[in-house]
Amino acid sequence: MKVELETAYIGLDCTQPGAVASYLQDVIGLMPGDPRPGAASTWRVDGKAMRVWLQAGEQDDAAYIGFAASDIEAYQRTLARLHKTEVACTPLSAAQKALRGVQEGVAMATPWGVPLELVHGLTEAQTPFASASFPDGLVTQGQGFGHFVFVVGTAEDYEASRRFAIDGLGLKLTDFLRMPIGGGADMNVSFFHCNPRHHSLAIGFIPMPAVPKRLHHINFEVKQVAAVGMAYERALQARTPLANALGQHANDGMVSFYSVSPGGWAVEIGATGRTVGDDWTDVREYDRISDWGHQPPDVLKQMLATNSPTP
Ligand SMILES: [Fe+2]
Repeated sequence: MKVELETAYIGLDCTQPGAVASYLQDVIGLMPGDPRPGAASTWRVDGKAMRVWLQAGEQDDAAYIGFAASDIEAYQRTLARLHKTEVACTPLSAAQKALRGVQEGVAMATPWGVPLELVHGLTEAQTPFASASFPDGLVTQGQGFGHFVFVVGTAEDYEASRRFAIDGLGLKLTDFLRMPIGGGADMNVSFFHCNPRHHSLAIGFIPMPAVPKRLHHINFEVKQVAAVGMAYERALQARTPLANALGQHANDGMVSFYSVSPGGWAVEIGATGRTVGDDWTDVREYDRISDWGHQPPDVLKQMLATNSPTP
């Protein structure tokens, strides 16, 4: 598979950057990155100098995300596609490029409301990635940072997001989900790939007048289920709220759990994610998120109470 793009980074606006930093280091297990003026802290997941930026702000949401082109030709091809589909791209300023540590880059608005940056030439770190939480590292080689999931509240924004991802960025639809959520409404999610990772980006649509938070979750993919289990235990021991208990997704087969950051967005840590190739034909509709598990905590609590032996 010829890889043109991969997820590169995320900038997070935080009302409590210190609390988010502790969460990323102690619960998730990321490694501190290079200090940067203009960022409260930066974080690493692999051999790149920075992958996550925290900045003090008012939103508790994603401030920007980055997709990196595999080389300068892929960067030019993606720019040309964006231009053809009339997506307005603004070159990153010298200060923005220095903050991100990239050689080239442009920023653009997205239909899901979080600016996206197309970049080339991420800075390599001076030291190898080392985290006691992930001694074997994370899955990033040829697949990038992980995946991002955003939420929109209208059918128009959902359709525009799909068109932006496919026609503008050149991502491919992997599969999609449609699931009743009560009151006659459906939740829809489209999953997009641009390299072997099942999805690098997903856009969810839940009908609502205003989306409380655009970023639903960030995913970090690890190499073994054991690393997921150990992260799960870290989250439990740190009394970090869970969004979803351990489970396995129906479409990408990922065994994962979701914890809630101090910013209110979630982090999914997972392993065994399905990969896709040029011969991908399984672009089907799913009617469920998970094959097992992923219960919200209140449901799990009820199940555990029911299953406890009577004293
Ligand atoms: Fe996910």
